[in-house]
Parts: sequence; C-alpha cells; structure tokens
Amino acid sequence: MDCHSELRQKIRSLHTAKEGQVLDMLVAQAGLSAARCAAISAHAETLVENIRSDEQPGLMEVFLAEYGLSTDEGIALMCLAEALLRVPDNETIDELIEDKIAPSKWGAHLGKSSSSLVNASTWALMLTGKVLDDENDSGIPGVLHGLIKRLGEPVIRTAVKHAMREMGNQFVLGETIESAIDRGIAMEKQGFTYSYDMLGEAALTEADAQEYFKSYSHAIDALAKRANSKDIRQNPGISIKLSALHPRYEYGQQDRVMSELVERTLEIVLQAREANIGLNIDAEEADRLDLSLDVIEAVLADQRLAGWDGFGVVVQAYGKRASALIDWLYQLAKSLDRKIMIRLVKGAYWDTEIKRAQVEGLEDFPVFTNKSATDVAYICCAQQLMAKTDRIYPQFATHNAHSIAAVLNLAKDKDAFEFQRLHGMGEAVHRQVLQNEGTKCRIYAPVGAHRDLLAYLVRRLLENGANSSFVNQIVDQSVPAELIARDPFALLSALGDAPSDAIVWPPNLYGDSRQNSRGWDLHNALDVEAFNAARAPFMHTQWHAEPLMAIEHDGEKAKKLNNPANSDDHVGEVIEATLSDAEQALSAAQSWIGCNGDKRADILMKAADLYEEHAGEFFAVLCREAGKTPKDAVAELREAVDFLRYYATQAPDSTVQGPGVITTCISPWNFPLAIFTGQIAAALSAGNGVLAKPADSTPLVAHVAIGLLHKAGVPRPVLQLLPGSGASIGAKLVSAPQIG
Ligand code: FAD
Ligand code: 2OP
Repeated sequence: MDCHSELRQKIRSLHTAKEGQVLDMLVAQAGLSAARCAAISAHAETLVENIRSDEQPGLMEVFLAEYGLSTDEGIALMCLAEALLRVPDNETIDELIEDKIAPSKWGAHLGKSSSSLVNASTWALMLTGKVLDDENDSGIPGVLHGLIKRLGEPVIRTAVKHAMREMGNQFVLGETIESAIDRGIAMEKQGFTYSYDMLGEAALTEADAQEYFKSYSHAIDALAKRANSKDIRQNPGISIKLSALHPRYEYGQQDRVMSELVERTLEIVLQAREANIGLNIDAEEADRLDLSLDVIEAVLADQRLAGWDGFGVVVQAYGKRASALIDWLYQLAKSLDRKIMIRLVKGAYWDTEIKRAQVEGLEDFPVFTNKSATDVAYICCAQQLMAKTDRIYPQFATHNAHSIAAVLNLAKDKDAFEFQRLHGMGEAVHRQVLQNEGTKCRIYAPVGAHRDLLAYLVRRLLENGANSSFVNQIVDQSVPAELIARDPFALLSALGDAPSDAIVWPPNLYGDSRQNSRGWDLHNALDVEAFNAARAPFMHTQWHAEPLMAIEHDGEKAKKLNNPANSDDHVGEVIEATLSDAEQALSAAQSWIGCNGDKRADILMKAADLYEEHAGEFFAVLCREAGKTPKDAVAELREAVDFLRYYATQAPDSTVQGPGVITTCISPWNFPLAIFTGQIAAALSAGNGVLAKPADSTPLVAHVAIGLLHKAGVPRPVLQLLPGSGASIGAKLVSAPQIG
C-alpha cells in the first residue's frame, strides 16, 4: 500500500474513533507550550474587549444577545424563521405564527437591547402576541379580541414574514451575483476580498442540479470580469457545494458520482481556472466526506489544472478525521505537483451529526462532543497547515477571537495565509485584525433568492444561538472577556478529554429502558465492507421455508422463489400451509399468559440479540428475497430489533388478564421483517399466542425470523408460522374465532 492510500485508510479508521484518543494525538502533535497558550489568551482578551467597545456591532450579534437559543422566545423565532421560508399557504402560516408568537414572554425583552431595531421588533412581537393570545375569550372583550385577531391576520402575517425576511437578508449579500458584486465593492475598498456562495444545496432532482450548475457557471462568468490580478489571492473567488451538483451524491451511487459528478465539477473548476479565480469545495455532512475525496482526487488530477493554485478544499476541525485529512490533501498536492488552498473551519453541521449518529445507532460520533475539543482541534490543525505552506495556502475561517489570536501567534509569514469570515458575522473582529495585523481577509458571501436560504440560515441560527458559541458569548456582557478568551487546551484537560456527558451516546439513545439497535453506516467504506462481509456467506444460500407449527404440517408441494430484482438468482423454496394446516394450527395454538412478564421480556430481548447476531443472513435474505437495497435492509433489521426490545420493556407491565387470546398477524410484503416482527412482538409481549402469516412473496425472511424467536425461547404452540396465500389461509385465519 502506498503512503497515499495508507493515509486514506487512516482517515477511514478515524471516522468514529474515540474522542479522547484523537485529542491526545492532536495535542501531542501540536506540543504548544504553556507560555504560548497564555500569550494567545492574552491577545484574545484584548480582541474581545475591542470588539465589545466597537461602535458598529453587527445586527446579528445584537439580535442574538437578546434572542439566543437559551430563551424560549429565541427558539420560537428560530422555528418561525425555519418554517416560514417553506410553508406555502396562509392558513398554515397564521397557525404557525399563533403557535410560536402567542405563548412567549416578549415583554421581558422590551427595551433590553442596545439596538433600536431589535427593540422595535420586540414591541411588534409583543403586540402580535397579545392580539393572538386566546386567553381572553369570553363576553364582549372576547368578541372584540376575536375580531381584531381575524382582521389583523393578514397584517400580522405580512409583518412577521417581513421581519423574518429582514433577518435572512442579514446573511445574503445579494439576490443575484451582479447585485452582490456591486454591494461588495464597499468592503473591497476597505481591503476585504470575497468568496461568493450561490445558495442552494442537496439537489433533489437532475433539474435542480442543472440549475445549480448554471448558477455557478454564470457566477464565474461574472466574477471573471472582476478578476484583475495575476495573483489569485487578490481576486474574488467562489465556493461550491458538491451536493448541489448531483442529486445522488451518496456513497451507494459511487459509480454515477465518479462519472457524472466528477465531469460536472471539473467543468466548473476549469472555468474558474480560466477566470483565474479561486474555487473552494465546501465541506458538508460527515457522511459525504469519504466520497468527496474520490471526487476531489479525480478532479485535481486533471492535467489541465497544472500550474493553477486556485483549487480549494474545506476541512472541518470538529471532525475526528480532520488532521489525517490535511496530511492526505498535502500528499495529494505533492504527488500531483499542485499547490492547493485549504479553508479550515470548525464545522457547520454539528447538531445534524450528533442527531444522525444517534438515530442511525452508530458506534460513536464522527465529531467531537465538547466545544473546547473542537477549539483545540482547530488550533492543532492550524499549526499543521502552517507547516505545509509549500503546497498549501491556508484560509482560516472563524469569528472566534481566541482562534484568530492562535492563528496569528502560530503564523511565521502573514502573507502565507488569509482569514475568512461569513457575510454578516465577525465584522468587528476582522476589521480590527485587518487594520492592526496587516493580514488578509476574505468574506464568504451567500447570493440567491430567499427560498434557497433556509438550510444556510438554520445552520447560522443553530451555531450562533448556542450559548457555547463565541458570537453568543461576546454579546453577553455578563461573561467577562477573560472567560471568553480562556485557553481551550486548559479547559479540555480540566474535562479530562472525556466525551461530553451532556450528549446521549448512540447506543444509549433510549436511556435505561432499552439499548438502541446497532447501525451500519453505509456511507462509510469500512461499514460497507463489514456489511458485505456479513452477508457474503449467504449470497448463494438456498433457503427453505415451511409451516412451523405445534404439530406436523400437511403441505408437500414446494414453490420456487426468485430474487425480484434478478430473476436468475434462485433464492429458495417454500412449502405453503394448507387450509387444514391453518385449522390444525388454530386448534393447537396456546397463549402464554401463564409465563410471567419478566420471563416473556427476557425471551424477547434474547430474540433481539439473536436477530443482531444473524444480521448477515437477514441482510442477504432481505436483499435477495424482498429486493431490498442494503440501506433498506439495515433499516428493516434495526426496526425489527427495536420492536423486540421495545415490546420486551412493555411485557412486565402488561395488564392483560385471563387466558390470553390467539392473535393472527398478517404482514405486508414491503416490510417483511420489521412489520412482521413488530406485530408478533406486540402480541407476544402481552401474553398472547400468535399465528403468523407472512406476505406470500416473503416467506423466507419470515422463516429465518420465526426460527430465531423459537430459539430465543418462545414455545411453538405460542408462535406458529403459516406461510401461504392471503386468499386461502389468510382468509381462514381472519375469519376464525379467537380462542383462549
Ligand atoms: P465558535 O463559536 O468558536 O465555534 C462554533 C462551532 O464550534 C460550531 O459551529 C461547531 O463546529 C463547534 N461546536 C459547538 N458546540 C460543540 C460541541 N458541543 N462539541 C464540539 N464542537 C462544538 N462550515 C462547514 O461545515 N463547511 C464549510 O464549507 C464552511 N465554510 C465556511 C466558510 C467561512 C468563510 C466561514 C467563516 C465559516 C464556514 N463554515 C463552514 C462554518 C464554520 O464551520 C463554523 O460553523 C462557524 O464559522 C462558527 O465557528 P467559529 O469559530 O466562528 O465560532
Ligand atoms: C455553510 O453553508 C458556510 O459552508 C457553510 O453553512
């Protein structure tokens, strides 16, 4: 294995590595002395004090000072902003406004802000809340109140939408690239440069992707006219998102991505090269990272890019793979004899990453869970970049005074890198640094229509509204400058670099009640390998299914079953239950109400574990018999396991008394494991007996599942499998009387 692919493997292995381990490695690698850390904090403190005394604080900062996400009102506004951009009809908008505005305590914010604009908005919100409040709804005042409310709705709707639009405008430089370029001239005169971001991401259709492509291409044409310097660093640039350029930019579609997305990206990149402007590929969700590296490598290798220094990649310091990624990018640039740009950011998808890892049952998070860990990682990665300026032009994108002070402290040559900030944010600190330090600063400026702002806006509100964020702290005058400028290395070692206990670990998502089902991250090469290895032994298995009853069955004739997605793949055979089997099974069926709830729970829990142990066989049979995609197969198994564990927790409290009943569970073909298991587990947990009839087309999945439930300890008379057609035995089972 060459060094390049070794590094690639290292990146993969760090995806969900232990937080403490990654941080120890980073901190040791950086080796910053205590004196250096103290000097950085001292400088940061001065920056903080200067920002606070700045006469032109940004509107966003002031707004957040009043309405951060730690207030109910801030959350109400955030929800409104998020929803109003996409709700199409007036009725829903009115309900939404009423829901969010009426219950909040706007009066408590009245006159508190240093900004008259924010105070005026508070007034408006408070009055709106009073009009919408339904408490006073009896007698004449109630009638009047209702009238004002009804007549006022269109006005309120317009006003609230307008206010939200204003907030959105804080983050957008212009609706078109031409207007954005014009509006940017004022800042350019002050010495700033721009990287324009044509809003829009995560294309859902090919038509979307084509639109975004056109919009990037048009923007580069417009920027070409403004690229007057030979030195690319002096020219405006563009930032693009790969997710905007392809509707199936995902690991499972690697072949299409490598042909179609690479070609499209290359076309845009070549256009940027022609215009002599820099182009950055924004970093997006962690599950896209591995695939993005394939695209980046393929694009950068194109010979037509030789001699151009404008190709840029964004690295997210909150990701456990960041440092290894920098090494890989450096190696790539070296092997292709290129000089590239790397924009170092902390990462804008933190909440999404945490939630996704929890929901998908990943073994760990791909990002750090402590804010100080990300701050430390940022500094360590900054130092790493500073040592690689022969091949890399670092771009330090942050609004945090401490991170900025650290970069300044580590820099040997102020010309070898640039700072970056987002439009509408960090204005005071970057104005100060530009003037006092003589460093360069580029502004990342979103351009586009309001409807495309949503995803970007929500990311800004989430990261800035969090009370751990720098922007949030800077506006809170009760937090001393010294505290804001604290050394994150010291903070981290005080925490013992353990992961944050404020965040629920994916396996512990359901607390003490039950363990989360194990996930397979099919965006991750290593998990894909593990998935394929687990199902490999079953890729040619011929399964056999037959009725599993308390007594012998009558059925004889075997029916052959083929893969619905590949008729050459013969999957196995089923002997279907006869009508007489159905009758016999009914007579032999028993409930297990006599078995106590704890014991039933143990058996269902054991079955869940057995399902997970047999994941490979389930994956194979789900894909081959039911035509499931790998992602759907994982989701099916996880849901089935969770049903078993959930109903196990209900069994001890089951209030079912008496003899119990016999339940018929007839399940659909489209969820042959999840719904099949869910129905059965619900009935079993309550002490009932079950006759399980799977869909005609998926008896093999059902047979494997019932085999494991029996193995876990469910007695045969309590759970019988009757594969067969709905028209014959299904009808019989449904019409049969329930017996005790
Ligand atoms: P700070 O307040 O110091 O840091 C906030 C950040 O800390 C959060 O965004 C998060 O990353 C991290 N964080 C918060 N809480 C925790 C926690 N509990 N545990 C661990 N980490 C935590 N982001 C992208 O993802 N992709 C991009 O392509 C991208 N491009 C950018 C371009 C520019 C010019 C700029 C300025 C930012 C860009 N960002 C991008 C956004 C960036 O990642 C940060 O979200 C943002 O800049 C806030 O970081 P900060 O240093 O300014 O503020
Ligand atoms: C984002 O889109 C700035 O790229 C960053 O959130």
